[in-house]
Amino acid sequence: MTRAAITGWGKCMPPAVLSNHDLATFLDTDDAWIAQRTGIRERRITHVLGSELSYVAARRALACAALAASDLDLVVYGSCSAEEAVPNTASGLQYKLGAWRAGAMDVNTACTSFLYGLSSAAGMIATGTIRSALVVGVETISPFLDWDNRGVAVLFGDGCAAVVLQAAEHDDEGLLADKLGCYADSRQILRVRGHGTTYGNRGISYGDTLWDFDGQEIFKRAVHGMSEAAADVLVRAGRAPADVHLVVPHQANLRIIEFVAKRAGIPMDRVFLTVHKYGNMSAATVPVALVEALEAGAVPPRALMLMPAFGAGLTWCAHLLRFGERVTPLDAADVELPPCERTALQMVNELRARKETRGRSAAGLVSPVFPETQVVLAGGTGVA
Ligand code: COA
Repeated sequence: MTRAAITGWGKCMPPAVLSNHDLATFLDTDDAWIAQRTGIRERRITHVLGSELSYVAARRALACAALAASDLDLVVYGSCSAEEAVPNTASGLQYKLGAWRAGAMDVNTACTSFLYGLSSAAGMIATGTIRSALVVGVETISPFLDWDNRGVAVLFGDGCAAVVLQAAEHDDEGLLADKLGCYADSRQILRVRGHGTTYGNRGISYGDTLWDFDGQEIFKRAVHGMSEAAADVLVRAGRAPADVHLVVPHQANLRIIEFVAKRAGIPMDRVFLTVHKYGNMSAATVPVALVEALEAGAVPPRALMLMPAFGAGLTWCAHLLRFGERVTPLDAADVELPPCERTALQMVNELRARKETRGRSAAGLVSPVFPETQVVLAGGTGVA
């Protein structure tokens, strides 16, 4: 079987920083509560579209692999904040990159979208359908975040990273094992209402979102799913926790990561963390942390990497991957985002004001979990 190896990587983080103190200017919260309960100190707010973040990250990843966009066979856009449902966002990225020969698909499994995309592309490399792929993990969550709900507004941020996948040179290299799962009986405990076709004909404007979010239940199920998946891939690849050089987990909450590491039998000094500075970037979290680990020199040649994650659905997964000898870029790309003229707090206050001006067209939506329903959605709650 041909394994898929990561041969290129690049990230693109929006520059505007929103601190816990910024959040406390409009929410009943404080830095101490957020830091203690989640480990998060700040997060990024984007001033550009996800496809623009993706373009920069993709160019950097392609340069790192010294691969021309025209040689790509597939572009995967992993995100739950795609710009359009039709056409998909991957096709826009394919066009912008000039990846003319590539197929293009969006993958949405919420926070696990990058890793589910990685599995899809790696599977196609294994069967010989494609030889190379660009897999992007990107989230521009700020436009549809429920900014006046302190239970969710403090947790999330925007970001993007991309990897290039190509056939591995050796058998014991590349993606060694992956496990995908979903607790669909819990899909109602993390739901962004007002975002999707169910709501389209009910006079609810895009962006008028309310989040159903049962933090404690998500916490428990996240620890369970990530731990189960991590144990599964280690057993199937015939590796022990002690063989793992670095864990690059989904980063929604520092305490979740600590539980998962403990259950996996891997000390925290072998876990790469970004949660303090970026919060939960959904699909972008794992690839951004992976790129930063490589940039920091924390990934030795032939490193064995474990990447467990979970997201709405509730989807969960883990990937066990061995790097090759090369853990440094072959080249760099000369590409930057346009400058950001506003502060993160200004942008967030604009988003809040816009929602206020429109009036709550989602007025029938009552937060938090779980209001009486008029239209029942599969898995539980509904919308007026
Ligand atoms: N600032 C200050 N206080 C807050 C707050 C905030 N941002 N959010 C909630 N509180 C309050 C609650 O109202 C509650 O007050 P009460 O005791 O007076 O009722 C108290 O803090 C404790 O709330 P609780 O929900 O029990 O806190 P917690 O320890 O479970 O932490 C989360 C909440 C959301 C941080 C935690 O459950 C979590 O991280 N869950 C996982 C969610 C997640 O990762 N989702 C992403 C999926 S990809």
